[in-house]
Amino acid sequence: MARKAARNPVKLSRKKITPANGGKPAGSAAKWSGRFTEPVDELVKRFTASVSFDARLAPYDIAGSIAHARMLAARGVLSAGDLADIERGMAKIREEIASGNFNWSIDAEDVHLNIERRLTALVGDAGKRLHTGRSRNDQVATDIRLWLRDQIDRIDDRLADLQDALVSQAERHAAVVMPGFTHLQPAQPVSFGHHMLAYFEMLDRDRERFTDCRSRLNRLPLGAAALAGTSYPIDRAQVARELLFDGLCANSLDAVSDRDFAIEFCHAAALTMVHLSRFCEELVLWASPRFGFINLPDRFCTGSSIMPQKKNPDVPELVRGKSGRVVGHLMALLTLMKSQPLAYNKDNQEDKEPLFDTADTLDSCLAVMAGLVADMTPMVASMRSAALEGFTTATDLADYLVRKGMPFRDAHEAVALAVKEAESRHCDLSGLPLADLRKFAAAINDDVFAVLTPEGSMHSRRHPGGTAPAQVRAAAARARQRMKRRVR
Ligand code: ARG
Repeated sequence: MARKAARNPVKLSRKKITPANGGKPAGSAAKWSGRFTEPVDELVKRFTASVSFDARLAPYDIAGSIAHARMLAARGVLSAGDLADIERGMAKIREEIASGNFNWSIDAEDVHLNIERRLTALVGDAGKRLHTGRSRNDQVATDIRLWLRDQIDRIDDRLADLQDALVSQAERHAAVVMPGFTHLQPAQPVSFGHHMLAYFEMLDRDRERFTDCRSRLNRLPLGAAALAGTSYPIDRAQVARELLFDGLCANSLDAVSDRDFAIEFCHAAALTMVHLSRFCEELVLWASPRFGFINLPDRFCTGSSIMPQKKNPDVPELVRGKSGRVVGHLMALLTLMKSQPLAYNKDNQEDKEPLFDTADTLDSCLAVMAGLVADMTPMVASMRSAALEGFTTATDLADYLVRKGMPFRDAHEAVALAVKEAESRHCDLSGLPLADLRKFAAAINDDVFAVLTPEGSMHSRRHPGGTAPAQVRAAAARARQRMKRRVR
């Protein structure tokens, strides 16, 4: 199956739909079938057509049709000659689509009817027999699942690339100290590498969610036909095997109608984008001279048309912004599905654009972030001096007093008073002379200064999950192992 289907294989004349060209049937237009007394209104034809966006399902539609035809032939429903014609015709269609020579038309509404119509033009009656025992309802449900399965695999690779960049930063900068924040106020010193690995963990859970979604979507809808199944002696297991599905959708009504797998995908994507937006928010702040924590590679930044000094972090800003549309697509699909009676409804045609845009947006965001993260540089000196501001080692002083026997709540209060004193003298806790520190707690000795440095604080948190550089290096090594062990 083609891993990368062309994104926009369709060129259609984009005639605007207006009441002026709607309302009356086009002169030569054909009727939908003999059941109808007049051709479809031009306005309705344009309104109901989906080929302008669902043509990208073509490679999957063809694969699904061939698997269906082979099964029908194996069960004696189609002749060997018909199967050979269908396979030959589909090979030609595949080639026409790939080379941009396929004539897509809204007269045939969607990707499925366009391909079937062309097949019939190429091979005659065999083309007309392809749709035996099948409906566009189970056909489209199959196509989207196949397409989405490939998207998930590609996105998993992209997530792994970004994780790889994060782990590399963590390995390189495990001992680089920076202020950690709560409420965006300086809180306690942490390792820059530790901070990077926090995002590794978020992305790892995102990967699990996509893998989980893949396992549930990888069931075959074909055989459900329109909604009730089919009277032909079909072999669904054969089709499932050929299309690499892990099993069959167990209920025909459910198979053609639910799009929960698409919603799950959009949920996993929205959550991933939310994670990226948090990271991007930090990168934007850190790249500002007010923070000066990070240098973004020039090739990932843009300038200003008026202010010559500007180097703007457009990439993280855009990723942060794009999180909005992906979250929006999730809401769109949830709302689309809500209250739909069984089984298939045309509402479901509206699943495609949000779903496609979600996958495209996530893919491009992950790709650009992997490049940016791989080549960004922490500004070690300014992060360290920021870690010295804001009394980030106050907790370490309290912990020191606890080790000397003071109850934690008393230690907390003693240090709070010491901070107040240091603040009024415009110095750090380590800037207070020992004699003055001892006014707040007599237990303080000259060994206190080791715990008051950002490095001392960072190195002291040496349990698994902690920020001590040795722990960060060990966590990075485990992260590499976890990435290696992952199997699809
Ligand atoms: N284009 C349709 C979709 O995307 C295909 C199924 C249409 N089926 C039908 N009975 N109208 O959902």
